[in-house]
Amino acid sequence: MYEIFQLIHKTLFFVVMILGLVVLVKAAMGLSSKSEFTETDRKLGLFFLISNHTQLLIGLVLYLFLSPFGLKAFTELGSEVMKIAEYRKIAVEHIFTNIIAIALITVGYSKNKRATDSAVRHKNALIFFGLGLVLLLSRIPWDKLF
Ligand code: HEM
Repeated sequence: MYEIFQLIHKTLFFVVMILGLVVLVKAAMGLSSKSEFTETDRKLGLFFLISNHTQLLIGLVLYLFLSPFGLKAFTELGSEVMKIAEYRKIAVEHIFTNIIAIALITVGYSKNKRATDSAVRHKNALIFFGLGLVLLLSRIPWDKLF
């Protein structure tokens, strides 16, 4: 079970990154060429949001029940977790930064649901999805990914 969830979490990482890049490039191009925020832009944002929310769910299952770097680290090592970088990075930094990142991505998507002006929608996508992506990238455990 642990390996299956790890595999899903790793695979979804690439999905999130590809969608994130496409969404950002389209938003930047849309803003600079003053073009319309299309149905395709909206759907790409939605898929980006869904892939992140799925990561959140899979990540929480790993964190709460399966991974030795999640809650188990605290029950086994107590406050020592904070002193060991390998544990602290996932048990503390990865989860907190990613929750903030996914919250920003969610805010960006819902702002765009209400906005009607294309330039505002491209700007929202660029700012909120961009910040979210930067935060995600800042706390990826690269050593575990490859
Ligand atoms: C807040 C939600 C998240 C939680 C609770 C979470 C939790 C975890 C946990 C516990 C691990 C260690 C798994 C192991 O034992 O090897 C992990 C690894 C990892 N996470 Fe997350 N994660 C979350 C969100 C994300 C997001 C949004 C991404 C990227 C889009 C991501 C990418 C990764 C990668 C690439 C790894 C290393 C591969 C692996 O060990 O499975 N995580 N995550």
